Amino acid sequence: MKIIAMTNKKGGVGKTTTALSTAAYLGQSGFSVLAIDMDAQGNFSQASGAKRDEAGTFDFLRGDPPENCIQKMAKYDLLAADARLSRADKEFDQIGSEHLLEKALKRLKGYDYVILDTSPAMNVLTLNAFAAADAAVVCCQTDSFSLSGLDDLMKNVDLAKEYYNKDLTVAGILLTRYDSRTSISKRTAEMFKERAKELGTRVFETVIRESVAIKESQMRQCDVFDYSASCHAAEDYAAFAKELYIVLGGDKKKWQKSSPKPNASDSPRISIPRQPRKRTTTLRRR
Ligand SMILES: Nc1ncnc2c1ncn2[C@@H]1O[C@H](COP(=O)(O)OP(=O)(O)OP(=O)(O)O)[C@@H](O)[C@H]1O
Ligand SMILES: [Mg+2]
Repeated sequence: MKIIAMTNKKGGVGKTTTALSTAAYLGQSGFSVLAIDMDAQGNFSQASGAKRDEAGTFDFLRGDPPENCIQKMAKYDLLAADARLSRADKEFDQIGSEHLLEKALKRLKGYDYVILDTSPAMNVLTLNAFAAADAAVVCCQTDSFSLSGLDDLMKNVDLAKEYYNKDLTVAGILLTRYDSRTSISKRTAEMFKERAKELGTRVFETVIRESVAIKESQMRQCDVFDYSASCHAAEDYAAFAKELYIVLGGDKKKWQKSSPKPNASDSPRISIPRQPRKRTTTLRRR
């Protein structure tokens, strides 16, 4: 079971969109996926059309039986956020509260991936995500503000490693909302690559292009693949999910074509949906 946190202290950079699309694509590719909405805003839960008045993340952290808290969605299981999560800092203020998620996840079996959507605040929920995760994906909008915030963010990850989880790794920086029509996006992406190298990490080859399909799919409460499998965002997030799988040590040969198997159970099943190969924007090293 690989636990992956989509993170950045900066708001609106695509954490939720990345968590949702990655969970959906891995799920439709035959992996068993649990998504956890660790943000009191509940954007993941809302965009996936989950019920918000039932037990979810809050109850799971409190130690309720997982089967009472998990909702079965079409492609993944979900621990949804509700209004009580905004009280998390007060509710979970005992010594060791940063490790509640890690502890609760130990009771689960059979998931290939756990995808954590985190909030832009460095609160007890985000610290729980850092403490439980094997890997962090740093989502950054392709602009200079995100670039200037990168050092600060990486410092936080280092502190999280020092105090909560020495095994936490940074899988890489994912550039989102990339505008392929402008040279400034290309230049900014190159600057991210240079800075990432200096910080001892990498920028994912796949970049996520700006695509109106993202907002439309979220409004319709479906994932971007169901909304339009041929839109830029669907192509890019499919490529990213596959790249992430490989970065996290997945066997390339096992990611083969076979019929998608939504929400399947425990044994490793790796496949991509049958569809013609499409052009994907990647930043290739020359
Ligand atoms: N590739 C994209 N193309 C177009 N719009 C996008 C793209 N990615 C994200 N968005 C839009 O940008 C906004 C912010 O995205 P998202 O909610 O995923 O960011 P976030 O980092 O989770 O924000 P927060 O920090 O508030 O939780 C949303 O309205 C989303 O629809
Ligand atoms: Mg979000």
